[in-house]
Amino acid sequence: MAARSILSLTYLALSIICIATSWLLTATSAAVYDVVSMGAKADGSTDSSQAFLSAWTAACASSNPSTITIPSGNFYVKSVAFEGPCKSGSITFKIDGTLVASSDYAIIGSSGNWIIFRQVDGLNVYGGFLNGQGSSLWACKAAGKSCPEGATNLEFSNSKNILVSGLSSVNSQMFHIVVNECQNVKLQGIRVSALGDSPNTDGIHVSQSTGVTIQNSKIGTGDDCISIGPGTADVWIEKVDCGPGHGISIGSLGKDTEEDGVQNVTVSSATFSGTQNGVRIKSWARPSTGFARNILFQHVGMNNVQNPIIIDQNYCPSGSSCPDSGSSIRINDVTYQDIHGTSATEVALKFDCNPKSPCTGITMEDVNLTYQSRAAEASCKNVGGTASGLIQPSGCL
Ligand SMILES: *[C@@H]1O[C@H](CO)[C@@H](O)[C@H](O)[C@H]1NC(C)=O
Ligand SMILES: *[C@@H]1O[C@H](CO)[C@@H](O)[C@H](O)[C@H]1NC(C)=O
Repeated sequence: MAARSILSLTYLALSIICIATSWLLTATSAAVYDVVSMGAKADGSTDSSQAFLSAWTAACASSNPSTITIPSGNFYVKSVAFEGPCKSGSITFKIDGTLVASSDYAIIGSSGNWIIFRQVDGLNVYGGFLNGQGSSLWACKAAGKSCPEGATNLEFSNSKNILVSGLSSVNSQMFHIVVNECQNVKLQGIRVSALGDSPNTDGIHVSQSTGVTIQNSKIGTGDDCISIGPGTADVWIEKVDCGPGHGISIGSLGKDTEEDGVQNVTVSSATFSGTQNGVRIKSWARPSTGFARNILFQHVGMNNVQNPIIIDQNYCPSGSSCPDSGSSIRINDVTYQDIHGTSATEVALKFDCNPKSPCTGITMEDVNLTYQSRAAEASCKNVGGTASGLIQPSGCL
């Protein structure tokens, strides 16, 4: 009897501890804000911007980790800015649904961004489909009319400790995803899709940022799949499929006289299909404090790419009236390792460097590019470095 009551007392005490613990856990665990309960409508036409902003304001003000849920369905939103700094050190977006912009380009076309995060520290975005409906703006631009510049689908500005996983972005008016003035940003499982002739629809643009990782992503668009702008360091790009598009570009650099450089960028295990460029470094021909150094391109497959390997220090997108001072940024310590596949043009390797600022420390190891089943050609100006292993086309270093 006594043993029995001790047992049941122990049981009772344990139960109380359990209940108390779970109450404590609930009290400190993530606050969840659902955009629909904040007034959003999944009908694709009701303006849900305010509901999204209300959810953000609540999540941002929470002293606990907080989660914003967006259920499936189409949510129409105008330009929205999710601004920090936040009290919550960790905000998670769980997006099952689609965010859709207006098909009338004028609604967001002059606002620079459609969806932007500013001054946020500690953000996870899981899933989500962003439809910028940019085609009416592209048509306006193609017709040579006077049109607004267009909005970026998604931008992170002045933020840090960001993870974006499994997000899709289609038909942005301008760039799809921009990372500017950020630290420690991880983008994984990203899908970008826009027509191959859509103007300035870069997939992912990174500038003035450090510690950016882009992995396991598939990007097809009308401009660079990924572009790396001035002031960027410690970038890791791995397992990216690019095409259609203009390739993975460092630059354009050297646009400004006073400019920060780009350093420590790795592109590993990328494939390019039918793109205008593969791995590219481009800079304007004018004096600048900018530079590109400590760059590694490795394990890259080219499939019918117009310029598989290119350094262009005379970047001139308009084809005329570009600066031509015979000087450009310093390009130094660039390695090409295990680059293979097919070129769509005879010249598969082009180093067009400047006589006043030659490209130095260029290393090539195991490069095999063919054009119509024969060796492709190389075109090189003002470049120095070393080659090892099979190099085809040869003759540059
Ligand atoms: C270069 O960048 C990688 C991330 O891609 C980082 O882990 C590494 O520490 C950086 N190297 C230097 C020398 O800063
Ligand atoms: C270079 O690539 C071509 C086409 O893929 C292939 O036929 C050839 O054997 C390769 N050359 C070497 C030396 O590996």
